[in-house]
Amino acid sequence: METVNLDLGVDSYSIFIGGGLLDDGDLLRRHIAGNQVLIVTNETIAPLYLDRVLAHLSGYQVDAIALPDGEQYKTLDTLNLIFTRLIEMNANRGVTLLALGGGVVGDMTGFAAACYQRGVSFIQIPTTVLSHVDSSVGGKTAVNHPLGKNMIGAFHQPKAVIIDPELLSSLPERELRAGLAEVIKHGAMASFDDFCWLEENIPELLSLNISKLTFALRRNCQIKADIVSQDEKEMGVRALLNFGHTFGHAIENSMGYGNWLHGEAVAAGMVMAADLSVRLGMCEHGDALRLKGGDITGVRGWCCWRYDGLCSGMLSAWCVLHSDSYHGTLPCRFLCWWKNSGKSSAWQEHDWRLPPA
Ligand SMILES: NC(=O)c1ccc[n+]([C@@H]2O[C@H](COP(=O)([O-])OP(=O)(O)OC[C@H]3O[C@@H](n4cnc5c(N)ncnc54)[C@H](O)[C@@H]3O)[C@@H](O)[C@H]2O)c1
Repeated sequence: METVNLDLGVDSYSIFIGGGLLDDGDLLRRHIAGNQVLIVTNETIAPLYLDRVLAHLSGYQVDAIALPDGEQYKTLDTLNLIFTRLIEMNANRGVTLLALGGGVVGDMTGFAAACYQRGVSFIQIPTTVLSHVDSSVGGKTAVNHPLGKNMIGAFHQPKAVIIDPELLSSLPERELRAGLAEVIKHGAMASFDDFCWLEENIPELLSLNISKLTFALRRNCQIKADIVSQDEKEMGVRALLNFGHTFGHAIENSMGYGNWLHGEAVAAGMVMAADLSVRLGMCEHGDALRLKGGDITGVRGWCCWRYDGLCSGMLSAWCVLHSDSYHGTLPCRFLCWWKNSGKSSAWQEHDWRLPPA
């Protein structure tokens, strides 16, 4: 088992990573303070893994709720289902919420924990690559509003995160690849060595080699944990985790949420950011090509597997960035990719006001 510690003073916690950890009842129970537990999961994950978690909790007053599956249900209405279940089970302030699922379940469970009786404990058992390395690390929780994604939320840190990479065996391949985009983002950001390791090992990660996955997930959680420890509330350096997101959000926005997975949009966004970096003279063309993935998995590349949609996605994103809401009124913040002192890669934020029409 690998452990990454997140150093946040009284809110410090550990992330445990290892094949088979879902069946480690002692590890789970060590992080449950009271005797009440509500497991929050969804209708897809419950039939796969809920019984294995319930098996560890026979001595507790335990209940479970399976939410409808999908980003479209990450809403205040769905959140209310969790509150109703908590009140029905007479949950007190000692209750622990247990998030069993991907980023959607994790974000909603964390936000419910932040609000219920002004704050109770929660534990994350994330089940997607994205939730392993991104959404379960750092304490951001939220639901969507019809007028904007993640608009209602709170910072609330879990008591522990338990990552079992074996759960990825049931994850659809498209979700796996989209999650790996965030892994590559962290690697490209941390150091050139990390990037090269990923470049070499992507095929093994895609084929779910557990020891390689454990290594990559631990390293990724460490990279994010280091940044979050420096800047928990995103006042500065944490924004660097948004590499590829300016273009990525524009792609999601213009292609319609749900048509592209978030990780797919971020992957294309990173390619576009690297391309911009080349044009600004900050990155070598060859390095930008490596980020695109041509050298990683062969012809189509890891991030361009939706190559057919990529060009229209980029074009639409470009139109959004040139639209009235951006044009001349907002500085667009792009994170560029550049190689620092030959060895490590780094980010540089570039404020760029689009030229007048
Ligand atoms: N809090 C943060 O810091 C943060 C960071 C990044 C993203 N997010 C949020 O995370 C969400 C996206 O998370 P996601 O990519 O994990 O999507 P998701 O939670 O919607 O999961 C993707 C799909 O895979 C299914 N699934 C999950 N695990 C599975 C498994 N092991 N086997 C089979 N099916 C499985 C889910 O039911 C779902 O259908 C977004 O709402 C985004 O806003 C939050």
